[in-house]
Amino acid sequence: MTTKRIPIIAGNWKMNKTASEARDLATAIILLVKNVKNRDVVLAPPFTSLQAVAETIKKTDIALASQNLYWEDKGAYTGEISAEMLLELGCKYVIIGHSERRQYFGETDETVNKRLRQALNKGLLPIVCVGETLDERESGKANQVIKGQLKGALKDVTAAEMERVVVAYEPVWAIGTGKTATPKQAQEIHQFIRANIKALYDDATAAALRIQYGGSVTPDNVSTLMAMPDIDGALVGGASLKPESFAALVKFT
Ligand code: PGA
Repeated sequence: MTTKRIPIIAGNWKMNKTASEARDLATAIILLVKNVKNRDVVLAPPFTSLQAVAETIKKTDIALASQNLYWEDKGAYTGEISAEMLLELGCKYVIIGHSERRQYFGETDETVNKRLRQALNKGLLPIVCVGETLDERESGKANQVIKGQLKGALKDVTAAEMERVVVAYEPVWAIGTGKTATPKQAQEIHQFIRANIKALYDDATAAALRIQYGGSVTPDNVSTLMAMPDIDGALVGGASLKPESFAALVKFT
């Protein structure tokens, strides 16, 4: 059986764009991608711009994502954001465990798992990020690191829940550096991720899983990456901040 996986192109705006700038960017993107069919387009602005983008994309097929969430429902967690808050704003997806969260904000496989399970419990679709550092790649540990991150992130997640999960492979050395993984390097890890999901779950779950590549994706390299059999989308930082380049990514052929 072959499963058709709809490509998913997501723009991770990181800590960029005030609410008014976000509205302008989303408006420009809508115009440029309005005739695109058969791919999921996702925008992940910062928390403070979610509402502005939600209002702007309301009548389109573009989906809204947040860049994080907290695992408790509510309470004394100063500075955190709950699933319910995100749902009310119209978020469909949530990025979890981005390497910048792991690197600068103490995110661990355990906290990634807590956030992921909360997202699933509350009906948000998690985009869970994994990826090795340059040191880990150079010392031949990339596969081992990714296997550990997947196992940690997906602890107690059922096969039925996996239908709602997207995995993003983002080699840390390729993020914001202009150094993209070659299509072959990316494909090797994507295949490895799918094999791991098969081992943890089953054939059908692995075949249905969408795996995005992230790390210096641009309009120039998106097509060769997307041509790889196990690459089902892109999680894009820098190139998602300009309407023309993000639209070109969405329209990859
Ligand atoms: P980049 O970021 O496209 O700027 O490399 C990707 C990401 O961190 O999601």
